[in-house]
Amino acid sequence: MRATARAQPNIALIKYWGKRDPARNLPAVGSISVTLGDLYTEMTVSLDAGFDRDRLVVNEQDNESMLPRISACLDNVIGTSRAHARVDSLCNFPVAAGLASSASSFAATVVAASAASGASASTATLASLAGQASGSAARSLYGGFAELKNTRNDVSVETILDGHDWPLKVVIAVTSDGPKPVSSGKAMEISRKTSPFYGRWIEKQHDDLRIAREAIDDQDFEKLAQVSEHNCLKMHSVMWASRPPIVYWNAATVDCMQGIRELRSSGVGVFFTIDAGPQVKAVCIASDEARVRDALSAIAGVTDVLSTGLGEGARLVESA
Ligand code: PMV
Repeated sequence: MRATARAQPNIALIKYWGKRDPARNLPAVGSISVTLGDLYTEMTVSLDAGFDRDRLVVNEQDNESMLPRISACLDNVIGTSRAHARVDSLCNFPVAAGLASSASSFAATVVAASAASGASASTATLASLAGQASGSAARSLYGGFAELKNTRNDVSVETILDGHDWPLKVVIAVTSDGPKPVSSGKAMEISRKTSPFYGRWIEKQHDDLRIAREAIDDQDFEKLAQVSEHNCLKMHSVMWASRPPIVYWNAATVDCMQGIRELRSSGVGVFFTIDAGPQVKAVCIASDEARVRDALSAIAGVTDVLSTGLGEGARLVESA
């Protein structure tokens, strides 16, 4: 039994930071993201009673470090009495570059695993299963502008605006391709336990979500720009005030932010957001994409610039 699914990374505009239930990986706050179009991960799950162990092959190389998380994800989707699996992962963008490859990987894994086991789970169920592996992965089951809400015991995700209805672009400035100093999961727990700003971050998230939802409904770029940059900087302030401090930025990260703010004050439709890493994501109006690309490419320390439109949610590509 074999199935292949494809999923794209998503970039949060209103961020998930903090877990209300670390054991079940349930987020402390809701979030809003955009699902990207051209960057993708394809996962092929082959289940075979003849295999004596699970195996993960990433871009044609065996990968032991991610294997335990993939195996746990397969157990969640199919059950622990399943056959062993070979999982092949193909990614068309740099995996280690902090571009949310875990979100696209787990979103594609749950879709492929469910199909390979012969089940027909709903998108809502698959989103919840993906979220148990990586909180942000739940959003990659949905395309365009996606909102994740906390429900009593779980999460629910929906597309709040189709990407075709507001075809923004995302330009990614890569400023380092080294591994993260600390994983987002660990960093969230350090923030929850030690940051004096953590409680306030949680309290204020409802306001940011409401403002972003209004901005998306009205396609009000300036309003979305202001609330997204504010929410991003607030999340990083929570991290900076943690003990030990969590600082993901480098000098080029700061220069990119500055460059983007200058562009916006000169009339270019662009804003920045940054996740648990040093890369800067510039969200922009389609007609301004070339200017944003040129400006970010010229910043010292930027090693690569990728750009993409918005895309659809995770889906099955092949099943046999
Ligand atoms: O899904 P995780 O555990 O990798 O956490 C993602 C956290 C951020 O990327 C910083 C924010 C978000 O909402 O995606």
